Amino acid sequence: MPTQRRILVTSALPYANGPLHLGHMLEQVQTDIWVRFQKSRGNSCLYVCADDAHGTAIMLAAQNENLTAEEYVNSIWRQHKQDSADFSIDFSVFHTTHSAENRKWSRRIYKRLKSNNDIISRKITQAYDPKEKLFLADRFIKGTCPKCKAEDQYGDNCEVCGATYNPADLINPISTISGETPIEKDSEHFFFRLKNYQTQLEKWIKSGTLQSQVANKLGEWIEMGLQDWDISRDAPYFGFEIPGTEDKFFYVWLDAPIGYIASFEHYCKQSELNFGEYWNEENQTELYHFIGKDIVNFHGLFWPAMLKSSGLRLPTGIFAHGFLTVNGAKMSKSRGTFIKASTYLKYLDSDYLRYYFAAKLNGSVDDIDLNLEDFIQRVNSDLVGKVVNIASRCSGFIEKTFENRLSKECGEETLIKDFICASENIAKLYEAREFNKAIRSVMDLADRANQYINDKKPWVLAKNTNELDEVHSICSVGINLFRILMIYLKPVLPKMSIEAETFLNCSLEWTNLENFLIDHDLNKFEPLMTRIDPKVVKMMIEESKVDDAPDRQSKESDNSIAIEDFSKIDIRIGEIVAAEQIENADKLLRLRINLGDLGERQILSAIRPHYSPEDLVGRLTLVIANLKPRKMRFGMSEGMLLMTGDESQLYLLSPDSGARAGMPVN
Ligand code: 2FM
Ligand code: ZN
Repeated sequence: MPTQRRILVTSALPYANGPLHLGHMLEQVQTDIWVRFQKSRGNSCLYVCADDAHGTAIMLAAQNENLTAEEYVNSIWRQHKQDSADFSIDFSVFHTTHSAENRKWSRRIYKRLKSNNDIISRKITQAYDPKEKLFLADRFIKGTCPKCKAEDQYGDNCEVCGATYNPADLINPISTISGETPIEKDSEHFFFRLKNYQTQLEKWIKSGTLQSQVANKLGEWIEMGLQDWDISRDAPYFGFEIPGTEDKFFYVWLDAPIGYIASFEHYCKQSELNFGEYWNEENQTELYHFIGKDIVNFHGLFWPAMLKSSGLRLPTGIFAHGFLTVNGAKMSKSRGTFIKASTYLKYLDSDYLRYYFAAKLNGSVDDIDLNLEDFIQRVNSDLVGKVVNIASRCSGFIEKTFENRLSKECGEETLIKDFICASENIAKLYEAREFNKAIRSVMDLADRANQYINDKKPWVLAKNTNELDEVHSICSVGINLFRILMIYLKPVLPKMSIEAETFLNCSLEWTNLENFLIDHDLNKFEPLMTRIDPKVVKMMIEESKVDDAPDRQSKESDNSIAIEDFSKIDIRIGEIVAAEQIENADKLLRLRINLGDLGERQILSAIRPHYSPEDLVGRLTLVIANLKPRKMRFGMSEGMLLMTGDESQLYLLSPDSGARAGMPVN
């Protein structure tokens, strides 16, 4: 019996500023499958996660909801915990970074960094929102790109031309929080001197513990020179105050990974574990971080440097995965492919998606596509059509003819041996996170089991009473093959495994792979999994589109103007006193408009295709009277008529009877 490994696993801590979506679930499912696999092999494997509760975005989201930051993150924490549980994510602990343990560890680690001379302070100049009294991170500033002049671009890069720049370079920058023009302001910041760990990091990333793509990327960054890392933020900020300061807080990315340690300590308080064995020294236990490829710099550079400086152990491995795309594209709210975990669960079983993710995941950082048609097809044909089919084909005979008891012997030694022999290869693939290959291997076995039943045709033999023993034996073999397959699939399909355990009347244990079910009672077979109805997937997408509505509304309200802005516009009733065509101008008419007290104006208006001049004279209409006069090719235009319609037909607006030229509209 190999010695039991002691493993601690984490997945990235989700920000507590919104619901979990399928992108989060990809990572949690990947981690959970790996953890369940380790446990099934008899290893001790703990899975620690928490909400990442700090930062400006969360502070602002709470304000938006009229909640304190604590109230806000608590309510998100409950939702996150529920969604993960509903996807059968088996956390040992799901804590929060806004915890007493994390405050303690963040301060402790900071003090260790400081006493090692790894912290320096210096003044920096940053964009500042004078109205909200807040320093602005780049993503809270928008303006016109200095390079291509595209409007509405974020403070650090242009989505249109790809240019990168400083927020100060933006033309007409505004704070996205208040709409004010940011000013520049100085403030004292604290920096972690990453450079002090350059040699150790170089060695660590070459030690073979990282995926090659990740090691290469980190190597490039190190080669470019490690910059000091700004670990402080100015008040107001939702986070932990930096010891020895009054208005400085730890940057959220400092205390987030420390949350792994703090949450583990929280777990230790409820268990018999020895905290030090997991964090103080290497080689006693294994530590793995599952993360998305976008945060490898934090986990592969900053985090190990912090751990080193604080005298704590380094991770045994960092397992980065790619992004989730849906139907080949980035998840999109308007297409309904930005699917919340809770929306998915309203319509579909979590095991379906766990299976699909497993069938696509590998040990690389490649992106994973959830193609919804392929998803339906894969689940229906593999799980329902192949795996469940084995049990349902065999259970009928066992129940009807043999009182639900399996035969006294299990034949087909070679076939069964092949199924058992696949075990070590499948285990190796799970270990290496090559889940797609593990699944393929299991499905090949499922094909063989179905082929065996097809070849033996128990339904033909059952017609002949002399052949009943043979039928019993075939179906008992079929059920035993099904049992082995379910042991291999158990890390992926926790819910279906529970149903299968009830039906098989035994627990599915990898460590008991060779304990065949002989002369064994089964329970009544209930369909273990039903097919996905494509209509249900459509409904889920439709609901996800509806989810987008508040966003669109808020975008619209971003364009809203204050009443003071509206009152700047002077709209008057104007009487058209003259209208004439203009030579060489196909669309324009020259109008003279009487605005009562304001006198008469000339307005050039593009209504020639829609009205003949004689029909206009004498009509009252609505006019913007204080528009700056514009010099046009055919003369000055001193105002604007208000009209509705589109290019194909324009309609003049008219007041009700009683209105007179010059009356204000408000
Ligand atoms: O990128 C994110 O969503 C972060 N909240 C992940 C933090 S992981 C860890 F460092 F805490
Ligand atoms: Zn640009």
